Amino acid sequence: MALYSFVCFSLLLTVSAEFQWKHHNNEELPLVLQEVHNNCPNITRIYALSEPSVCNVPLYVIEFAQVPGFHRPYIPEAKYIGNIHGNEVLGRELLLGLAHYLCDQYRKNDPEIKALITNTRIHLLPSMNPDGWQLATDTGGKDYLIGRTNNHEVDLNRNFPDLDAITFDFERQGLSHNNHLLKDLTQLSAPLEPETRAVMRWIMSTPFVLSAAIHGGDLVANYPYDESKTGASAAEYSASPDDETFKELAMTYALAHADMASPTRRGCHTTSSDDVSYNFGKQGGVTNGAAWYSLKGGMQDFNYLATNAFEITLELGCEKYPSAELLETEWNRNREALVEYLWKAHIGVKGVVSDSKGFIPNAIISVVNCTGSVTKPIRHDVTTGPYGDYYRLLTPGQYEITATHTGHFQASRMVSVPKNQKSAIILDFRLEEFQGKTNWLQDLSSFGVYSPSLRNSQPRIYKRSLYEKVAETMLENKEIVKQ
Ligand SMILES: *[C@@H]1O[C@H](CO)[C@@H](O)[C@H](O)[C@H]1NC(C)=O
Ligand SMILES: *[C@@H]1O[C@H](CO)[C@@H](O)[C@H](O)[C@H]1NC(C)=O
Ligand SMILES: [Zn+2]
Repeated sequence: MALYSFVCFSLLLTVSAEFQWKHHNNEELPLVLQEVHNNCPNITRIYALSEPSVCNVPLYVIEFAQVPGFHRPYIPEAKYIGNIHGNEVLGRELLLGLAHYLCDQYRKNDPEIKALITNTRIHLLPSMNPDGWQLATDTGGKDYLIGRTNNHEVDLNRNFPDLDAITFDFERQGLSHNNHLLKDLTQLSAPLEPETRAVMRWIMSTPFVLSAAIHGGDLVANYPYDESKTGASAAEYSASPDDETFKELAMTYALAHADMASPTRRGCHTTSSDDVSYNFGKQGGVTNGAAWYSLKGGMQDFNYLATNAFEITLELGCEKYPSAELLETEWNRNREALVEYLWKAHIGVKGVVSDSKGFIPNAIISVVNCTGSVTKPIRHDVTTGPYGDYYRLLTPGQYEITATHTGHFQASRMVSVPKNQKSAIILDFRLEEFQGKTNWLQDLSSFGVYSPSLRNSQPRIYKRSLYEKVAETMLENKEIVKQ
């Protein structure tokens, strides 16, 4: 008996240490997460989103962090979402595998994974559409469409509020209002599904910086915007203000993947008779969303236009429902890319905005690209979170970063963003309050001169003296008028 239980116990241990590559059903999914949590209790936490699916399946997330359950300043948050289309199942298994891998490598003291988890808060939602998964699985997983939608037959990646329409409208009016646009929404074109609502609450309440949603049916990393500006249904490049950064994010995944970026691989839907269909390998494994085909109500553009998060869409294989024997191979083809992409939460600049009273939440961080001879504002601001912290993903170059908040003098600094960052440049701002001075200048959002000759974190916090100079001149003028 003693021997028997010993054998059973050790068998249990070996079994629980091994991750099995197979299609995990909706009951098995949380068990895998639980097992990972049991193996790595100090750095993981499991939680469910605020609402379950239509058929009442909870949407489980596993979080990895040095201190799970809490946002900490200077620690960017990243997320992966799988299986938003129920019949596109690879992302679901890859994220379960990734959870297992992160825990395993952490326990083995893998220095890269340890550093990643110490410095990043990572959230994995393996399945956003468990009901669609069930239908696709019950019907054999072979159909291109069955199981794509949720149980109300709604495509969840068309169900998010269409904020693109709002920002394109502002753009046409010449207004550069391109962030946190949910408050500008006046109507929904369709009711929100429970899965959409749950994910919206999640992304509005967690200060995510970086994100990717995993699909299937092609092999490409797709970046914003997904919606065309003219209404064209396909083949119209729709650039966001952060086009350069998004390209770098997408290319990071494509290049670290086994062959997404390979120009010699076969396209997914090419047949000898059909040369016109896309072979994304020939364009580096990346595409702008609307340059492929335009869609409204997608999750990717919603992330960018409603929050501070930069999300891309990963299509991880020609087959939407690969057979179980292929899953481990697919893991090996994606593992490096999945990890490499998470490091992108650390590109650009981050910091804390404060004043004499403490942190300033909701301060605005704006950026001017001063690389080269032409300076160019990047018309997409990010905002500080509850601890006054911000994260501004940027590509290598020279930038002027400005922190603005009502009742304070704005402050700007030049910064040089290097290549191959594994840690964002830290740029904190201590803002001076107006303190009884008239604040009639506070809405002058820019003093306009961005000299490209300013380099390398050379302080440019002379906005205050500039303010005083401008104020003096205006007072002088006033007196001249009086005389
Ligand atoms: C978790 O943390 C506790 C307290 O620091 C430590 O004693 C324990 O070994 C850790 N467990 C694991 C699995 O790392
Ligand atoms: C800034 O401009 C440089 C030069 O044009 C470019 O290489 C870089 O990607 C730009 N950065 C961003 C974030 O757009
Ligand atoms: Zn899809």
